[in-house]
Amino acid sequence: MSKRKYMIHEFCQMKAEGQKIAWITSYDFPTAQFAEAAGIDMILVGDSLGMCVYGYPGTIPVTMDQCITHCEAVRRGAPSTFVIGDMPFGSYQVSDSEAVQNAVRFLKEGGVDAIKLEGGVRIASRIRSIVDAGVVVIGHIGLTPQSTGQLGGHKAQGRTADSAGLVIEDALAVETAGAQMLLIEAVPPEVSAFITKKLGIPVLSIGAGLECDGQLLIVSDLIGHFTAFTPKFVKRYANVAEIITNAIKEYVWDVKTQKFPRDENCYHMLPGEEAKFSELIKRYA
Ligand code: KIV
Repeated sequence: MSKRKYMIHEFCQMKAEGQKIAWITSYDFPTAQFAEAAGIDMILVGDSLGMCVYGYPGTIPVTMDQCITHCEAVRRGAPSTFVIGDMPFGSYQVSDSEAVQNAVRFLKEGGVDAIKLEGGVRIASRIRSIVDAGVVVIGHIGLTPQSTGQLGGHKAQGRTADSAGLVIEDALAVETAGAQMLLIEAVPPEVSAFITKKLGIPVLSIGAGLECDGQLLIVSDLIGHFTAFTPKFVKRYANVAEIITNAIKEYVWDVKTQKFPRDENCYHMLPGEEAKFSELIKRYA
């Protein structure tokens, strides 16, 4: 199925028309191909690749170079999909100018259409600087995994009125700073519904309810490829871990019992070469 890549303003039109946006993460070429063929609207090359691909305990060790490499692979797999690069911890915390330099790397080297970064009020100047450099920015508030040290773990945010107020302030700051989309993670649906109505930009949810303008899931959770833990907000659509494990078990059994390889898996000698080969090996007898 051939598909045309959306431009950022078309996501705003989708919000206006009440058409929901479907978004997943991807970290590699084949998954990006599958996602594009399945008709996904946007792909995030998330720093969740730290856990889902590299087996780190969290996202903190992820580097710019790793993110760029995975963005390149995803771009090759999904040339007609809006791809977003996720700025890893340390790539935008130090200064506005370093944030701009790293955002530019995502576009020039990673081939992405936009970048995402975590935080609201406290990173508003970073968002403004990156936007001023001509880059499409997506904000990310609520549960921000790069700050789980400060948040005291992977905890839902905005569950008290005071905390909900802080989430709303973050949302307003992200929009005012010029971001063109906002992701809200692990926040009660009534809080994200209020923000979705209040903001002009599309507001996406990961664990923030149905009322948002679209949904994001981590592909490794969606297909059951990452099993170390599963957040409450995940809906699992497949159990790829079981399929892979069973396939490898079957292969191990076939090797041990000599059921693999079979004749059709072998390269045979070219016609007329068997006789010459028999002569040849006599020399080694
Ligand atoms: O890296 C990622 O996949 C993310 C999601 C958790 C929103 O940022």
